[in-house]
Amino acid sequence: MSETLYTIEVEVNGKTRTGQVPARLSLVDWLRDELRLTGTHVGCEHGICGACSVMLDGEPVRACLIYAVQAHGHRVTTVEGLARPDGHLSVLQDSFCETHGLQCGYCTPGMLIASQALLDSNPNPTEEQIRDAIGGNLCRCTGYQQIVDAVQLAAKRMKTK
Ligand code: FES
Ligand code: FES
Repeated sequence: MSETLYTIEVEVNGKTRTGQVPARLSLVDWLRDELRLTGTHVGCEHGICGACSVMLDGEPVRACLIYAVQAHGHRVTTVEGLARPDGHLSVLQDSFCETHGLQCGYCTPGMLIASQALLDSNPNPTEEQIRDAIGGNLCRCTGYQQIVDAVQLAAKRMKTK
């Protein structure tokens, strides 16, 4: 018996994208395999590591725990959507580079999404608030301090812009 497919329409990084998806396809698999937005990474696939983080209507979520059909009618932002319209790195992305907030980079898309969502809602976070915001995102390389430094630098730069 062939699997039932559902039509979805999702605003992804400012563009309307449509798809025909089975009910059990995860959002991260749809983004990566169908839309080829491979910046969003897949780690644990059960909600622990945060590598698959995207924003859903501005809130950070784990795209491995959400079905693509659940994103129907919503707005999704992936790491590809964080760059400036001219393709240059965003203030936050640039700050990660400057403070060495990444090494292997596997966690980085999720870290950027979690950090950007924090700065969008709180442009002047304390160190504790930054650590809390990235607390659900695992990094094996950096020891986290450089990531915290990156978010603090980005907040400072955004304030003086
Ligand atoms: S891959 Fe989704 S939380 Fe790890
Ligand atoms: S930079 Fe390697 S896992 Fe974070």
